[in-house]
Amino acid sequence: MRTDSEILHVGIDLGTSRSAISASNGERFVVDSFVGWPADMVAKKVLKRDVLIGHEAVTNRTMLDLHRPLERGLLKEGSEKDVEAVRELLKHLLRLVGVSSNGRIDGSHVRAVVGVPAASLRTNKQYLRNSMKGIVDSLMIVSEPFAVAYGLNALLHTMIIDIGAGTTDFCVMKGRYPGEEDQRTLTVAGDSLDAQLLKLIEERYPQANVTVFMVREWKEKHSFVGEAPKRVLVTAPVKGVPTELDITNEMRAACETLVPPTVETMLDLLSRVEPEFQERVRNNIILSGGGGLIRNLSQTLETALKQVGGGKVTHMQDPVFVGSDGGLALALDAPDSDWEKLTA
Ligand SMILES: Nc1ncnc2c1ncn2[C@@H]1O[C@H](COP(=O)(O)OP(=O)(O)OP(=O)(O)O)[C@@H](O)[C@H]1O
Ligand SMILES: [Mg+2]
Repeated sequence: MRTDSEILHVGIDLGTSRSAISASNGERFVVDSFVGWPADMVAKKVLKRDVLIGHEAVTNRTMLDLHRPLERGLLKEGSEKDVEAVRELLKHLLRLVGVSSNGRIDGSHVRAVVGVPAASLRTNKQYLRNSMKGIVDSLMIVSEPFAVAYGLNALLHTMIIDIGAGTTDFCVMKGRYPGEEDQRTLTVAGDSLDAQLLKLIEERYPQANVTVFMVREWKEKHSFVGEAPKRVLVTAPVKGVPTELDITNEMRAACETLVPPTVETMLDLLSRVEPEFQERVRNNIILSGGGGLIRNLSQTLETALKQVGGGKVTHMQDPVFVGSDGGLALALDAPDSDWEKLTA
């Protein structure tokens, strides 16, 4: 018999842009979801490392064969390097909270709840399971918005809308593990918004030199839908000269691409809730993920809810660890029978 103290419980939020881990020993970390291997002998000599992960990988990207193992909410299964990248990312997260590479922490065992985009739960479960083999002892794979709901204790008559980089995930909570019919995934999310904003800016200012990395930073600072809180002015080189550009309309248009599909999916899921519970769900809609921070988005969704009797949408100020904290809470509560044993 194992006692609870010998088990390390962890919650992992495997995200397209960031991945977070929360562990029962009190440790919490977040890393950028990038993995890179030195491109050649020279790079290896400079870096003196076999693999780089997270922010380090991004800053040294010129020397690396760089991989982002998730895209549009799916684990990339095509190349062997991407498979390896997920494994390296997971091992890195576990190392940060003190788990050694053979999956042991001072002789104890690791139980991990991993939250992934709902779409990836359907298509990539087996693959993820294989990635975790030999790294953890017991595993539970859940959808990201469910982990968020669990962490917030929003388990009954609520809807979570998690707007990440790769996907926007919806989940209606009915006081039990959510099923397929309670969840939806859209690929309109942070990344698609960045691509749209870049395209609009290039159309308006064809001479300006703008990259997706710059655009993302501007978005994270100035995103909004509806009425502009103030003009959005940014600086970018035009023929080599730093120039101020007004991108207010472009910012609004790009951010608003999120609104129609989100409203449509939200209303569709609501219409499938049993009639006597619909009002309670409408009044308990929670926006999470980085995209949930877009200014005025919750009010815009509330306006859309007026056509079905009104509702309340709240958003989280600091969404970084909600998914992994929720995973950890789930790990601590789950009975033995809910876990899959992973024997290497
Ligand atoms: N203030 C902001 N306004 C708009 N977007 C933002 C803001 N802050 C962060 N983002 C965007 O949120 C996204 C990252 O959110 P999050 O960390 O929830 O994603 P993720 O979990 O990595 O992705 P996914 O859940 O799709 O796998 C990025 O696209 C980022 O640019
Ligand atoms: Mg996420």
